[in-house]
Amino acid sequence: MKINFVDLKAQYLSIRSEIDEAIQNVINKTAFSSGPFVKSFEENFARAHNAKYCVGVNSGTSALHLAMWALGIGKDDEVIVPTNTFFATPEAVSLCGAKPVFIDCESDYFNIDPRNIEKAITDNTKAIIAVHLYGQPAQMGEIKAIAEKNNLLLIEDCAQAHLSEYKGVPVGTFGICGCFSFYPGKNLGAYGEGGAIFTNDKELYTKMMALRDHGSAQKYYHDYIGHNYRMEGIQGAILNVKLKHLPEWTKKRRVNSDLYRKYLADIKDVTIPLEMSGLKHVYHLFVVRVSERNELIKYLQDNEIYTGIHYPIPCHLQKAYDSLHLQKEKFPISEKIADEILSLPMYAELTEKEIKFVCEKIKEFYKL
Ligand SMILES: Cc1ncc(COP(=O)(O)O)c(C=O)c1O
Repeated sequence: MKINFVDLKAQYLSIRSEIDEAIQNVINKTAFSSGPFVKSFEENFARAHNAKYCVGVNSGTSALHLAMWALGIGKDDEVIVPTNTFFATPEAVSLCGAKPVFIDCESDYFNIDPRNIEKAITDNTKAIIAVHLYGQPAQMGEIKAIAEKNNLLLIEDCAQAHLSEYKGVPVGTFGICGCFSFYPGKNLGAYGEGGAIFTNDKELYTKMMALRDHGSAQKYYHDYIGHNYRMEGIQGAILNVKLKHLPEWTKKRRVNSDLYRKYLADIKDVTIPLEMSGLKHVYHLFVVRVSERNELIKYLQDNEIYTGIHYPIPCHLQKAYDSLHLQKEKFPISEKIADEILSLPMYAELTEKEIKFVCEKIKEFYKL
């Protein structure tokens, strides 16, 4: 039985006629860049997360960059980020000319550890980016309180956390901006690239709308030096179709995570991810910690089961950040888990039979 890490084709086949019709509508109206399909998606996506405003853009990286750019974060500023995240989080800080200040995560939930944040604050700190990694919200209560106490901007990186909730409140509006990615493999994925930013601040919204379109609110009148970060019409139309199915797909991911928990329960070499009580984890990734990881990956591959590692090298140890001179062992938890984490196949279309098969092969590997 072959089990892919993600299966975008299976999802497409389940909604094929709706998607084909949506793409044809965009072509019929030649609304290829921004336009009515993007606008409609922005409104619907904002509603799904109880946000006031949404700016559709062309990637999650653009969303993070545009948010910080519009907030005036730049040279000599520092932004606190977890080192256990995808590289785009600190990269967007660097794109603004500011310095990412890395901090460690906590070992049970993998997210930024609020206890490390205050120690990293200096006179130059402007913002904190809380990443809701793997689909589980960061501890927004504590993080928001620290941001308010120290007069810092709070930005959420929600790239992996569509429809996830912190104590009943959808992620994306705890701070000044919430940034999303619609990379194809995300819980809400485009058929190409895409991203979005939420804010409840009207002035900031207006500025971000202009910056994504060459600093222009009115065609050929440019108030700022901006960029072209517009979302494509076809992506807006596809995302609008997929958004309707997202609650049901999210439910299915959570059912699948329960099945993994059940079938992996008695393997001592596998540590199952913890879910913090009161939070809604949306399982973009189901990440376990294992011993003999490379051998296990190979064993699963030989059995046509494909897995991933998110992420093998913490950001502070990436070559691109050599200039920060951050030594190994600076962030011990992130460094330790980077050698142990393994992302198992996870998507709504996975069946119980497939999950059981993955778990049986893991047991077989550990000779159980
Ligand atoms: C946590 C996180 N932040 C930012 C991004 C960047 O999004 P994109 O790939 O759409 O630029 C991603 C995407 O992989 C991500 O997982």
